[in-house]
Amino acid sequence: MAGESDFGFERVSEEDKARRVAGVFERVATHYDLMNDLMSLGLHRAWKAFAVTVARVRPGERVLDVAAGTGDLARAFAKRVGPSGRVCMTDINGAMLARGRDRTVDSGLLLPAVQCDAERLPFADASFDCVSVGFGLRNMTHKEIALREMARVLRRGGRLLVLEFSKVRKPLAPLYDLYSFRVLPWLGARVAGDAAAYRYLAESIRRHPDQETLAAMMSDAGFEKVEVFNLAAGVVAVHRGMRL
Ligand SMILES: C[S@@+](CC[C@H](N)C(=O)[O-])C[C@H]1O[C@@H](n2cnc3c(N)ncnc32)[C@H](O)[C@@H]1O
Repeated sequence: MAGESDFGFERVSEEDKARRVAGVFERVATHYDLMNDLMSLGLHRAWKAFAVTVARVRPGERVLDVAAGTGDLARAFAKRVGPSGRVCMTDINGAMLARGRDRTVDSGLLLPAVQCDAERLPFADASFDCVSVGFGLRNMTHKEIALREMARVLRRGGRLLVLEFSKVRKPLAPLYDLYSFRVLPWLGARVAGDAAAYRYLAESIRRHPDQETLAAMMSDAGFEKVEVFNLAAGVVAVHRGMRL
C-alpha cells in the first residue's frame, strides 16, 4: 500500500515510521555510546575505522557525515582532512546531534552540526568530496531518495560510504538471531531501561536490504564502481560507491 513503511517487523504509515524512529533515538541518545560498546564488544570502533580508511579522504577534502548521531565518524574524518578540510555532521534528531556536538567539542574539535533529514539535504549540488552514513540508512523511510540526495551533494568522482548492518553468513544466522532477539533487548532493558528500542534495532536489521540489493540501489541512485566489504561475516558491511 502506498504511504506505508516498515518499522521493524510492523507495517506502519510513513508518517508514523518517522515519528517512531525519532522516538527511539530520543530515548536512546543518553546511553547510545555505552550501548554500542556493550552490544558490539567494542567492535563498532573497528568497523568505523575501517569505513574511514576505505573512504581514502585526503587533507583539505570536504566530508559530509549523514545521520552522524554522536559523531564517531565525523571526528575520525576531521583528523584525516586536517585544518584545511571541512567535515559537517548532520542528523534528523536533535538529541543525538546535541550529544555528537558536545562530544566533538570535548575532543577539541569544532564541526558544523546541521539538524536535517537525509532525504532533503540543505546543501548545494556537488559540494562534498565524500559523504558517509553510518548505521543510519536503515532508519530512513525512503532510502532511494536519501541515496539520491547523497549523490546530488557529491562532486563527480566523490565517494559515498555506507556502513550498515547487513546479512550475516548463513551458518551464523541461528546464533546471531538468538543474540539479536534475546540478548539485545535484555541488555537494552538493563542498561538503557528500554527493551523496545533494541528490539526495533534487531528487527530493522532483518528488514534492511542485503549486500547485493543495497549495491544495486546505490547504482540506481547514480553511483558506479560499487564495492562491498563484509565485516564480521556480514554482520556489518561497508558499501563504497563513486558518484558518476
Ligand atoms: C544508529 S544511529 C548512528 C549514529 C552514528 N552514525 C554512528 O554510527 O554511531 C542512527 C542515526 O540516524 C539518524 N536518522 C534516522 N533517520 C534519519 C533521517 N531521515 N535523516 C537523518 N538522520 C536520520 C538517527 O537520528 C540516529 O542518530
